[in-house]
Amino acid sequence: MAVLPILEYPDPRLRTVAEPITEFNDALQTQIDDMIETMYEENGVGLAATQVDFHYRLVVMDFSEERNEPIVFINPEFDVLDEEPNEFQEGCLSVPGFYEHIYRAAKVRVKALDRHGKPFEMDTDELMAVCVQHEIDHLDGKLMVDYLSPLKRNRIKTKLQKAQKKRA
Ligand code: NI
Repeated sequence: MAVLPILEYPDPRLRTVAEPITEFNDALQTQIDDMIETMYEENGVGLAATQVDFHYRLVVMDFSEERNEPIVFINPEFDVLDEEPNEFQEGCLSVPGFYEHIYRAAKVRVKALDRHGKPFEMDTDELMAVCVQHEIDHLDGKLMVDYLSPLKRNRIKTKLQKAQKKRA
């Protein structure tokens, strides 16, 4: 397994719309394991393939205390179960250091395939519902900063670009 580099805003590759996965081969299993390891290494609760420059519809999450219950979502989609907007302070490994209040649907039903292509459904609320919507956004080239005012978004962009330049 390997820890993969994470793309950071405003990297234009984060705007790529990911393709559906049709083959459940060994290469995909390796990609899934690498993403799970990367998520643990970076202390994230979720990671979308887009963030590691792999532009297929794959998301991993883990909400367990012990960090040993990964959930793999392939070609995930969701239906809103509760339209009531829920405010949550979100972070993103691609927008490091920023935690912003964002409104999303409070409850969603996610439908996806598991790592072997078997379909499953889950009803989610709280953090998991937020995470499902946040990660599926990534697969569509959307980021949490898109929900903020242009002023706030630009401020974050400038700060991150500065930090990226320093590291380069
Ligand atoms: Ni994110």
